[in-house]
Amino acid sequence: MLSQDLTGKTALVGGSTQGIGLASAQAMAAMGARCILVSRNEEKLKLAVQTLDTKAGQQHGYLVADYSDVNTVKTAVEGFVANNDVHILINNTGGPAGGPITAAKPEDFLMAFQQHLICNQIISNLVTAGMKKAGYGRIINIISTSVKIPLKGLGVSNTIRGAVASWAKTMSNELGEFGITVNNVLPGATSTERLDTILNNKSAKTGKDKHEVEQEMIDEIPARRFGKPEEIAAVVAFLASPAAAYVNGTSIPVDGGRTGSI
Ligand SMILES: NC(=O)c1ccc[n+]([C@@H]2O[C@H](COP(=O)([O-])OP(=O)(O)OC[C@H]3O[C@@H](n4cnc5c(N)ncnc54)[C@H](OP(=O)(O)O)[C@@H]3O)[C@@H](O)[C@H]2O)c1
Repeated sequence: MLSQDLTGKTALVGGSTQGIGLASAQAMAAMGARCILVSRNEEKLKLAVQTLDTKAGQQHGYLVADYSDVNTVKTAVEGFVANNDVHILINNTGGPAGGPITAAKPEDFLMAFQQHLICNQIISNLVTAGMKKAGYGRIINIISTSVKIPLKGLGVSNTIRGAVASWAKTMSNELGEFGITVNNVLPGATSTERLDTILNNKSAKTGKDKHEVEQEMIDEIPARRFGKPEEIAAVVAFLASPAAAYVNGTSIPVDGGRTGSI
């Protein structure tokens, strides 16, 4: 059995005060990793750190940074890597606002591009030196199933997600020889605040009751339910582990079977 132990590994986890990011940190901490959470809200970060397993004797921490302001991200991560090696990077942040692509403004694309692709690029380039030194690196990007099939009403998001997936595949080609893998996890509809916002917006836009909107979404999922953040996190944690060393350059939907492509 290949190892899924993360003892001695440091994981930098973006967008991690709640939802998929926090669940991913919790899963990796339970496998022994030291987790450094990165988000905007310091109070929520302090509370989130307290939820992480410390059985392996690890000391978790956090960095305050806003991915919509790339300089805050660069400064925070640069400061951390000056004295610490990172072995696992989870690129994750809040999703772009919804809406049809025909209504999107150029600045909406620019903002989403900065928050998602440029931040991924900056952080990844800051941590790969430590990964190369360790001969162990895992870069895992939380994107969306829209990488496979664009989702209705998410014009800016669909566009930026595709760019991030291409960026990741290219990165995986360049870093594979150093023992570093780069993979994408594509969540389907997952019960988090993000999904709640999407449901509320759809309900307001269509005039339908929120439960009706929810049921319509569930009807399109073969599993007939929304995902749980910990179900996405389980795949993230596996990809972060030594056992996943030969999984590289992939985009893995975790969506209860919703995505209609092979
Ligand atoms: N849930 C779904 O159904 C679903 C499906 C497909 C894709 N996704 C994508 O998966 C990712 C995570 O989704 P989620 O559902 O876990 O979202 P969520 O519940 O809204 O959580 C987002 C997390 O990101 C942090 N964050 C938001 N904006 C940030 C910023 N500008 N800088 C730094 N941190 C920021 C938030 O913390 P602070 O407020 O403390 O900063 C929070 O911890 C998103 O990109 C989302 O679009 C989600």
